[in-house]
Amino acid sequence: TYVVTDNCIKCKYMDCVEVCPVDCFYEGENMLVIHPDECIDCGVCEPECPAEAIKSDAEPGLEQWLKVNADMAKSWPNITQKKDPPSDAKEFDGVSGKYEKFFS
Ligand code: SF4
Ligand code: F3S
Repeated sequence: TYVVTDNCIKCKYMDCVEVCPVDCFYEGENMLVIHPDECIDCGVCEPECPAEAIKSDAEPGLEQWLKVNADMAKSWPNITQKKDPPSDAKEFDGVSGKYEKFFS
């Protein structure tokens, strides 16, 4: 599966939802997640993210993010169409520790 990671938080560009063939993105206030049981591992979304926040869970060290994606996908609503990103998205691109500071 692919997972959404830290740098999505407060960037939330949403280009990813437009390309997913199985509509498996779910929306929180500050970020999106991928439902790991629904993702078909096609990889199409990964290069679409301007914040480079989408990664394959084949990469090491993503256990925390896999859990966040799996847990939140159960309660957040499905999103299938891009909306306007936050107006200050650029300011948050690359900021470290966003999960600790801003996750909701
Ligand atoms: Fe959707 Fe494919 Fe991305 Fe999985 S890898 S979230 S199926 S676009
Ligand atoms: Fe987030 Fe990137 Fe999608 S910033 S909303 S994973 S395009």
